[in-house]
Amino acid sequence: MGGGGREHALAWRLSRSPELGALIAAPGNPGIGRLARLAPVSAGDAPGMCRLASHEGVDLVVAGPEAPLADGLADRLAEVGIPCFGPRAEAARLESSKAFARAFCARHRIPAPRHATVRDAAGLRRALAGGELGDLPVVKASGLAGGKGVLLPEDPSAIEREAMALLDGRLGAAGSEVVLEERLEGPELSVFAVTDGKRVIHAGTASDFKRRFDGDRGPNTGGMGSVSPGHQVGPGLLARIRREVLEPAVLGLAAEGAPYRGVLYAGLMLTADGPKVLEFNVRFGDPECQALAPRFDEDLLPVFFEAARGELPAARPPALRMRPERSVTVILAEGAYPGPVETGASIAGLPDAVESGERAFVFHAGTREGAGGVETAGGRVIAVTGLGTTWAEARETAYRTAESIHWPGRAFRRDIAAGALPN
Ligand code: AMP
Ligand code: GLY
Repeated sequence: MGGGGREHALAWRLSRSPELGALIAAPGNPGIGRLARLAPVSAGDAPGMCRLASHEGVDLVVAGPEAPLADGLADRLAEVGIPCFGPRAEAARLESSKAFARAFCARHRIPAPRHATVRDAAGLRRALAGGELGDLPVVKASGLAGGKGVLLPEDPSAIEREAMALLDGRLGAAGSEVVLEERLEGPELSVFAVTDGKRVIHAGTASDFKRRFDGDRGPNTGGMGSVSPGHQVGPGLLARIRREVLEPAVLGLAAEGAPYRGVLYAGLMLTADGPKVLEFNVRFGDPECQALAPRFDEDLLPVFFEAARGELPAARPPALRMRPERSVTVILAEGAYPGPVETGASIAGLPDAVESGERAFVFHAGTREGAGGVETAGGRVIAVTGLGTTWAEARETAYRTAESIHWPGRAFRRDIAAGALPN
């Protein structure tokens, strides 16, 4: 379910499963259309998705994006007896309400920045008066805001202004509650886990490159590139993240009566005091998933199916098998992204299959079928991934592939995986 680069990567993996009968994607994209039958239901239409799944009699729904989960897609599917890889609305609040997520971390002693949730000007002044949140707290809209809800003010006078703008409705209902939190420092790491509400199975790590321009400058985006494995990952750190973050989150939700089934994404900052949770997401990352997908070294379909039914067998190892290679993903975007973009440019050099040549992979993100072939249909258009024994090799493959795909407005960062990376 979904139609971006993450969903193309998932569809590609699922399409290779010997257990697969048929694959239907809604709404999909031209790349996914080569692997699955497409159904014209938009990803945001939870009732439509549920009708489609019932009508087709599917055995499993794999949710790509978060919004339909927050809208109750998994709850509706449960009513008609269809397992969903993706949590019910109550558990999806981990992503859809930052206020809920912060209070949840506090209840279960999951390491996180100090925070305060405010609903009006008086609350805001009280939260800032004590100074416990530091000089320059981060300001976040509590609700889903498509990546626009996090503000990192550069001077103290901006904090109250930005917070009031959110409370006054700049992002609509998403900002009716505002979370202020201590600003942390350190490298960021995305950690993924598959869970059935009881067991936690590590599903890889990645780091993404959120800023639009080289050298981490410019506006935040959905992600201009990613690498897997992520920054500073070693077995000790992963064990600590499982113990301090993933297990308490999964067990905490179950104890609160909202067991979680699907993939849990912990966005962490590796601070001098250890890993702390910046955010939880209830889905794979995009473009992290495009870096992870070629590294999975086992069939995902049975794992997703078991997790969705709440039945991960005890015999399953505590981590998915991953290939040891490094992967580097580069996003080919339209130049004006993350601002409003023009669409409809025809794309040259696109391979037919995901695997294009040795250890190069091409995923459609924002594309559509036009009169003259595949054309651009969004800000992030294509994701290319290179796999390599070394970072340099993976990077070289990714950039060679990026250069081979053209349209007039194409733009991409040149420095993905160019800086300091682990091992
Ligand atoms: P979020 O959507 O909450 O992960 O925030 C988006 C980005 O803002 C993160 O990837 C970080 O780069 C940054 N950020 C969020 N919260 C904090 C924090 N408490 N301290 C420092 N940076 C943060
Ligand atoms: N790349 C960040 C996200 O998917 O949330």
